Amino acid sequence: MRISVIGCGYLGAVHAACMAELGHDVVGIDVDAAKIAELAAGRSPFFEPGRDEQRDAEHGRLRVSTDHAEIEQARVHFIAVGTPQVAGGHAADLRYVDAAVTALLPHIGPGHLVVGKSTVPVGTAARLAELVEPTGAQLVWNPEFLREGFAVSDTLSPDRLVYGVRPGDDRATEVLDLVYARPLEAGTPRIVTDYATAELVKVSANAFLATKISFINAMAEIAEVTGADITTLADAIGFDARIGRRFLNAGVGFGGGCLPKDIRAFQARAAELGVGQALDFLDDVDQINLRRRQRVVDLLEQHLDGLSGRTVAVLGLAFKPDSDDVRDSPALDIAQRVAALGAAVQATDPEAVETARRSQPQLDYRSSIDDALTGADAIVVLTEWRQFRELDPAVVAQRTTARLVIDGRNCLDPGAWRQAGFTYVGLGRP
Ligand code: UDX
Repeated sequence: MRISVIGCGYLGAVHAACMAELGHDVVGIDVDAAKIAELAAGRSPFFEPGRDEQRDAEHGRLRVSTDHAEIEQARVHFIAVGTPQVAGGHAADLRYVDAAVTALLPHIGPGHLVVGKSTVPVGTAARLAELVEPTGAQLVWNPEFLREGFAVSDTLSPDRLVYGVRPGDDRATEVLDLVYARPLEAGTPRIVTDYATAELVKVSANAFLATKISFINAMAEIAEVTGADITTLADAIGFDARIGRRFLNAGVGFGGGCLPKDIRAFQARAAELGVGQALDFLDDVDQINLRRRQRVVDLLEQHLDGLSGRTVAVLGLAFKPDSDDVRDSPALDIAQRVAALGAAVQATDPEAVETARRSQPQLDYRSSIDDALTGADAIVVLTEWRQFRELDPAVVAQRTTARLVIDGRNCLDPGAWRQAGFTYVGLGRP
């Protein structure tokens, strides 16, 4: 099929590449000429495992452009632009979605299908359909559930496909079934529903995941005053299939370009709809999450007897491993708070140093773990990259005078670090 993907950011670039991988002819459109130039040169503007290996498959089937006229050959148009948090508020900023749809209108007509993938407040699809339908084209909402770091596999073999269609719009379903023929043949469940349900599936899934993480972090707060061990507790409750062990890792909490802004936008939309109370609990979810960041700062201050004049090696800047994304990253936020209290922060990350430098240029970034450890009084692990999880504490002990390690992701072996002479402090662990 001939497909256009509007927006070549994180979601759009991966989606366009994966649609080419599925055998479609794809054009990716973005208004950012620099981003398009990078993609055209075969370089990904962000780090994502699996992207490079795909290039051969994409060859000849994926083009990128800044020119909207290029989409006229396509019949299926994915909207994959960002919906960031508005400045000074909690709601989602829909200006890019609105601009993408408006820019599409002169190029679409009968037989075209516009497919929304962006995460939007419930009610947006119905509003956009009023713009799209007069051209003769149809609109379907097909939320994206991809996780950074697994974006390629999540797109090629998703857990489920959700189509939000106008009641009775069988054609939209038939066309999307052709687009996703391969995952459907492989048995991916497909749910066809209305616009509102499709939009809500996405935000409620993210609200649930954020709540699960904050639940275990709330238990970590209790563990800290009772001497209980949160990791054992998570293992034990996780064996209950109704609960499950995934997303029960206590630590410095969730960040990234989705969960934090999505729970806030969801609350803002519920308030607009007059049912704000239904999501009041998400305020607590947000607050529990943010308290974990301060907890690490407090632990450092307590163990180092103040931060002024101290040197702290920060291992991890990305919001999670296998990503160079530092949007709302707990790691970068903590690094910045520690520096603001007068400590010299020597920060490193396998992939996120450059993105972190663009966001917080004042911090001291180091290109290697050894460099970050030099002269440190304490080590803080804030992103559970394999390179940090597999550090040999005996070797680390030879490379640094630091004897305090704060494990912000509960990803180190406390016994091994203690044996190597470190004071080990986890979150929610004795
Ligand atoms: C998330 C959703 O998982 C995905 O379905 C949606 O489409 C976009 O938002 P992503 O932001 O890529 O994906 O990251 P995810 O793997 O969900 O992790 C989010 C944050 O939660 C990370 O900062 C991670 O470190 C943190 N987290 C995750 C925990 O603190 N504990 C856990 O147990 C799991």
